[in-house]
Amino acid sequence: IKTKVGIVGGGPAGLMLSHLLAKQGIDNLVVESRDHETIRNTHRAGILEAGSVKMLTDTGVDGRVLTEGDEHEGIDLRFNGESHPLDFKDLVDATVTLYAQNEVFVDLAAARKRDGGDVRYEAEVTEVLDLETTTPKFRFSDKDGAAFEVHCDILVGADGSRSFCRRAVTGEQDYKIEYPFAWFGILTEAPKSAPELIYANSPHGFALISQRSETVQRMYFQCDPAENVNDWSDDRIWAELQKRVDGPDGFQLKQGPIFDKTVLAFRSFVREPLSHGRMFLAGDAGHTVPPTGAKGLNLAFADVKVLFEAIDSFYATGSDALLEGYSDLALQRVWKAQNFSYWMTSMLHTREDASPFETKRALGELATVTGSRFGQQYLAESYTGWPHK
Ligand code: DHB
Repeated sequence: IKTKVGIVGGGPAGLMLSHLLAKQGIDNLVVESRDHETIRNTHRAGILEAGSVKMLTDTGVDGRVLTEGDEHEGIDLRFNGESHPLDFKDLVDATVTLYAQNEVFVDLAAARKRDGGDVRYEAEVTEVLDLETTTPKFRFSDKDGAAFEVHCDILVGADGSRSFCRRAVTGEQDYKIEYPFAWFGILTEAPKSAPELIYANSPHGFALISQRSETVQRMYFQCDPAENVNDWSDDRIWAELQKRVDGPDGFQLKQGPIFDKTVLAFRSFVREPLSHGRMFLAGDAGHTVPPTGAKGLNLAFADVKVLFEAIDSFYATGSDALLEGYSDLALQRVWKAQNFSYWMTSMLHTREDASPFETKRALGELATVTGSRFGQQYLAESYTGWPHK
C-alpha cells in the first residue's frame, strides 16, 4: 500500500490528524489494533479546552460537542471539608467543555467514514522500518491474518501510551515518574451532585466528582493501584466517596446504581525527542500525564495541530523545516502540561508515607492558591489551556 502519511493508532489523535490531512487533500491511512466498539466503550476523561472544541467545530468534524457537551465556567476545590469555587470565566475569561473522550472518538470516526477516510480497525502493526530514509514503512496484519506493507513519506505514531512505534526506537531519552496511587473510576445513574466538578483533598484521599449528563455521573477516588473492583460493592464505594467530600456544610452526594467500575493506573512520561527520522510521535505515544486536570486529550490535539501544520507545509513547500521543529515546539506545551498535571496530582492526593508536616503543607498550598486572585488565576489559566501557537 502506498500513501503519503501512514498513521499508526486510530484514537482521537490519529483520527484528528487523518481528518485534517484529508481536508487538505493529503492522502493518508490509519491503522488501529482495537475495534470501533472497544474504543467507544473505553471511558477516559471528559474535559475539553476551548482550543480542542474549536478543532472539532472549525474543521467540520461535528457540532455534537456543542449540543451535547456542557460548558463549565469553573471548578470547586474542596479541602478541610470546605468548598472553594473558582470562576474561570471571571478569572481568565475562559471556559472548558465537559464532553466525554469516547464521544470525541465516535464523532471523529464518523467524520472519517463520512469523508471516505481509510481507517483499518483490528489491524495490528508488526514492524516499522526505514525510519531514517525518506520512505518509512510499516507492516501490519488484519484480523484475518492477511499481511500488508505500507510505504509512506511520513509515519506518525499515535498509538497510545504503550506505543509500538515508540518502543521500536531505542536509545532515546525517556523521562518518567510513577505514583503510589491509582484512581477508582465509576459511572452511576444519578442526578448531578453539584453544578461544577469537585476536586476534593481529604485525609482519606482525593476524590473527583465529575459528570456525564443530567442522569449519568462520573466519579473517581484515589485508591491503591492493586485494588480489585470486585471487592467494592456499591455501598462501600458510596461510603468511600462520601467520606472524602464530607464537611461541616453537610454536602451529600446524590447516589444511584453504579454500572461501571475501573481501576486506572497512571504515570508521568515523556519521550524526547518526539521524532526519529521520518517518524513522529503524537499524543500518549510520546507523553502521558496523570489524569488530574484532564490534560491528556487536549495535549494530544495540541500535538496534532503542530504536526498537521508541519506536514501541510512539507507538501506545500517541499521544505521539512517545520517537521524538524515539531518535537521542540510540541514539547514546550508538553512540559507545561506535565508540570500542571503533576502539581494538581501532588497537591490533591494523599500519600500513605506522608509526614504530618507534608499533609499540613499541602493544605497551606491549597489555601494559598484559593486565597488569592493570582493563585486562582494561575490554576485557571493552566486548566483552561494555554493559547495554541
Ligand atoms: C474527568 C476526568 C479528569 O481527569 C478530570 O480532571 C476532570 C474530569 C472526567 O472523566 O469527567
